[in-house]
Amino acid sequence: MVKKSEARQKEKILVTAALPYANGPIHLGHLVEYIQADILVRFLRFSGKDVVFVCADDTHGTPIELAAAKEKIAPEELISKYYGEHTADFSAFHVDFDVYHSTNSPENKFYSDLFFKKLTEKGFIYERLVELTYCENDKRYLPDRYVKGKCPKCGAEDQYGDQCERCNSIYQPVDLVEPHCSICGSVPVRKQSLHYFFKLSSFSQQLQQWLGGNKLIQDDVRHFVEGWLKSGLQDWDISRDGPYFGFKIPGELNKYYYVWLDAPIGYIAATEKYCKEKLNKTALEAYWQNYDAKIIHFIGKDIIYFHLLFWPSMLLAAGFNLPSDIVVHGHLTINGEKMSKSRGNFLTARDYLAVAGHEPEFLRFYYASHLTKALADINLDFEDFKGKTNNDLVSNIANFVHRTLVFINNNFDSKLDNIGDDEKFFLQQLQPKYESVIKHYSEYNFKEAVKGILELSSIGNRYFQENQPWQLVKTDKKKCHKVVSVAAAIVRNLAILSFPILPKYSEKILRLLGYESTKNLGLGELDKPVPAKKILAARIIFAPIEETILMASVFPAVLKVGKVEEVTEHPDADKLYVLKVDIGSGKQKIIQLVAGLRPYYKKAELLGRNIVVVSNLKHAKFRGYESQGMLLAADDGNRVVVVSPELSQPGDLVYPEGSDPEKIASSRKQLAIEEFYRLNLRVNDEHIVYGTKPLRTAKEIISVDAAEDAVVR
Ligand code: 2FM
Ligand code: ZN
Repeated sequence: MVKKSEARQKEKILVTAALPYANGPIHLGHLVEYIQADILVRFLRFSGKDVVFVCADDTHGTPIELAAAKEKIAPEELISKYYGEHTADFSAFHVDFDVYHSTNSPENKFYSDLFFKKLTEKGFIYERLVELTYCENDKRYLPDRYVKGKCPKCGAEDQYGDQCERCNSIYQPVDLVEPHCSICGSVPVRKQSLHYFFKLSSFSQQLQQWLGGNKLIQDDVRHFVEGWLKSGLQDWDISRDGPYFGFKIPGELNKYYYVWLDAPIGYIAATEKYCKEKLNKTALEAYWQNYDAKIIHFIGKDIIYFHLLFWPSMLLAAGFNLPSDIVVHGHLTINGEKMSKSRGNFLTARDYLAVAGHEPEFLRFYYASHLTKALADINLDFEDFKGKTNNDLVSNIANFVHRTLVFINNNFDSKLDNIGDDEKFFLQQLQPKYESVIKHYSEYNFKEAVKGILELSSIGNRYFQENQPWQLVKTDKKKCHKVVSVAAAIVRNLAILSFPILPKYSEKILRLLGYESTKNLGLGELDKPVPAKKILAARIIFAPIEETILMASVFPAVLKVGKVEEVTEHPDADKLYVLKVDIGSGKQKIIQLVAGLRPYYKKAELLGRNIVVVSNLKHAKFRGYESQGMLLAADDGNRVVVVSPELSQPGDLVYPEGSDPEKIASSRKQLAIEEFYRLNLRVNDEHIVYGTKPLRTAKEIISVDAAEDAVVR
């Protein structure tokens, strides 16, 4: 071990973010944490700290094994696909890990075995027979989520094997009444198996001490953990029987480490990967057994138990450093609702980029504007998002930057003047504001840091406005040059202070101002002169967001190709037809629609035609006839043209290009007609567009012969 007394180098800090499972996409909920951690890392680096930021994919466990089996591929193939997606998504949002590793790696195998060995040697591991649910048909033990039945306490139907969603009681899978296997439906049996247990109960006191001595842990989190400690800790089952995707326990034929054993060890494995490649050291020497290093974990509130009880106990048992801080954030809600696939508001990183087409930095800025070191949930409200982006980021910050730089481009041949004593005095007065922004960052209070940045930018805007450089340039060009050069110094300082949140934007500004890169920059720049003698030509970097509906990037309408099988006139309404339409599949293959097409189409023109149906619209009655959806037609005020895809088949899904058809199809949301209208589908160049994305099926981009900008509904 490296002792405290050894020559003190720059303090080393290791920052980790929770490892995402390698069986699903990165979504906007995940991004709260990765962006939060990334902001801190960038800030620490700008403050001159030696920081390493590591993460990895969490690749083991039953869900991953079964997902691969479902796709008929090896788990290794599945996790490698997600590895590619995850790393691309992080980089799109400028989340810049020093290493992004995998728990299915030789380093992680090595450290998992090392932990298991140390824990065994120290007597913290023992074996015990457990009674489990086993499916004879699938030939596997069924973990909590794979067995369903009635709650043993309240009798609620269709509950998972660990907890009842109605009465919240906690139980074992074997306790379920009338259980069935959720893979194949058959009735499981009880079967015994010898499992390895970790003596978590031996660590109560040490955990208590650690918690008491650690002033950084959030109070809410401390209270949770103290509560658990008070009610007594249960030993922890750390093994699983095969088939399982994970690391086999040494000496065992068909037993594996439970995924939650090797997942946090993945933090060490990722550090090892980094240290071996960059420092020629092991993770243990550099961070995990080095007293001079600090470890900061970022996690969500759903995994507190694992990170504040299991993980520190394992570290204590194996003789490794404990984390100095564990920063816990709340969950993300979208427009006040929990994000979920069935609600149709599940937004992935890619949805945000693809359909919404928004800047990744808008999201970083939005999250930063809400993040503090608190456990509270964060709400992504689309109107608030639009406001924060357009009013704060674009109109306040970006506008000040742009008007200042363009003015210098246009009036002073892009040259900056030296700043005189008067102006220096003005700039010095801003110093406390910088310090307060820095203090907020260092306390993880990004919300207040953003407020401070906005205040500075307002001061900049006011300074510009009050000095009226557009007048001054005519009367006192020299003075005007000083004024705008002061404004340029404020611009530079805004860029430095917003760098952790807006790294790409800030970098562009800093380059305009004569910096070659942001690599070796830091907060020390704040009181230096702007380096450029001549700045570069400024361009508009951020444009405001116009339509927030674009943010509803999980396209909420389930549109399907249908074929008109029958057309009759509505007996009581002379504009309406009643149609029978084949929509290919689903609970109901033939549906009935009522459509106001009689003024525009003869019956024969509709019969046999392919149409597009909104299949998840709330049903409505028109003079006694039920309409179980609506067909799409373009209306330009003169003509109404039925949308008619030619190359597709009944049942084919119609979706905006770039979005994920499977996800749209899985939505169980019932749309109200107003919600559908709000999508604002229009004709653009003979295509039907949602925002900028044309609607298509797998086979064709759908076209319609209607006037430009015709409404499609
Ligand atoms: O809850 C999760 O998504 C886990 N994959 C987090 C693991 S974090 C660490 F312990 F590996
Ligand atoms: Zn089964």
